[in-house]
Amino acid sequence: MKSTKAKHSSGHEVRFQIEGPEATRAIVVHVERKGRAASVATDRDAASRLEEAVGLALAIDLEIAGQLVVLLAEPRPATLMGSGKVDEIALLVKETESDLVIVNGTLSPIQQRNLEKAWGAKVLDRTGLILEIFGRRARTREGLLQVELAHLRYQKSRLVRSWTHLERQRGGFGFLGGPGETQLEADRRLIQERIARLEKQLESVVKTRGLHRSGRARVPYPVVALVGYTNAGKSTLFNALTNAGVLAKDLLFATLDPAMRAISLPHGRKAVLSDTVGFISDLPTPLIAAFRATLEEVIEAAVILHVRDISHAESEAQAADVSAILTELGIAETRRDHIIEVWNKADLLPEDIAAMRRVQAQRQQNCIVVSALTGEGLTELRAMVEARLGKDLAIYEAVLDAADGQGQAWFYDKGEVLGRTLMEDGRVVLTVRLGTDKAEIAANRFKYRLRNTNLLDHAAE
Ligand code: GTP
Repeated sequence: MKSTKAKHSSGHEVRFQIEGPEATRAIVVHVERKGRAASVATDRDAASRLEEAVGLALAIDLEIAGQLVVLLAEPRPATLMGSGKVDEIALLVKETESDLVIVNGTLSPIQQRNLEKAWGAKVLDRTGLILEIFGRRARTREGLLQVELAHLRYQKSRLVRSWTHLERQRGGFGFLGGPGETQLEADRRLIQERIARLEKQLESVVKTRGLHRSGRARVPYPVVALVGYTNAGKSTLFNALTNAGVLAKDLLFATLDPAMRAISLPHGRKAVLSDTVGFISDLPTPLIAAFRATLEEVIEAAVILHVRDISHAESEAQAADVSAILTELGIAETRRDHIIEVWNKADLLPEDIAAMRRVQAQRQQNCIVVSALTGEGLTELRAMVEARLGKDLAIYEAVLDAADGQGQAWFYDKGEVLGRTLMEDGRVVLTVRLGTDKAEIAANRFKYRLRNTNLLDHAAE
């Protein structure tokens, strides 16, 4: 329990008790234009968008004191919504003694300031809320730097805009520099300096990561990336497949930074499973750009597992949102044969629906019904991943002279060496998994004798 002070529109301060060490009482307002045209990715009703926003707010330990939808006929430049709504929410803030209002939409800096004044509470818009969540979920240095950078850029754009606004009020010439402007300019400069510093730090972190990645590429274990709408069950699936204890909570965005771990596939083959950031609807484009380095794992992955909560009422709309983000990341529709749709949470479906889904998934070929919780379908999923990875790979035995260090190095570099046997005559047999193109090079250019053992087809489970 702690006591918190909140300033209300009446101007006086009130003291009240709230639960938990961090809980802040908040009201969530979803704003939407009346009769907004529905597109594929946004075909979702206002109530479920409000529910999603509430879910996001809960993800940062807020205590939700009220929630409502506001339909706008015409957005107001000063306060976004009409004065009647502003007053109604002011009353709600007062009654519930809330100190934060989340507006699920985009607010201009002026609107934000005016609403904060009218409600006597802090106001966060959707981008601000998402940044707050990303900030709390960041687990690596890279993630933290990315969030801070995105935050500063967001702040800077707001400062610039409000500064321009003030300038316009004075006539637009800028030689009258009053104390307000000077302060804003100074703020802007400080933010810019900090941005430059962060960019440099981030660059060096990304470079190190690039080195790690190329180190891994030499192993080389192919990367299998998990993507999915937030709360679809990525972390749970990651744990189930790797038996690792990565944070999995019933919270949105339990993951921001890629967590990577090796997994074994049915025939002993290894891959690196990468858990990535949870996607949400309307992820603002600048934020996608901010996390591009993190999402590079996805872009470069050999196989993408698109995890879906198949028991969710909005499952289709969520899948469309994820698809749209993948497109934005540059993963074209045409390259999508390496995506497996993992229909998760089958245990929450009634048995007849689950059975129907299984038939449907089988028919579509690139889909599989699983439950990360009960383990249903996971063996089949591993086999599916292996089949995708093994598409143009085969296992060969190469016989090399013991002295041919360079040749051995070449196989370690270009393929996945599964075994090394020293023969009595001193030669070495490498069992290696290679792409067909590489095998051709080895046979033609280097004249290695290669025997395709095709182990994949014969090895026992
Ligand atoms: P973000 O990190 O927010 O993107 O979430 P996530 O996709 O990693 O989801 P996470 O694994 O954290 O799971 C979200 C919630 O769903 C947790 O409460 C899990 O226990 C639950 N969950 C995940 N998989 C299953 C499943 O197969 N069945 C059931 N019943 N619940 C599941």
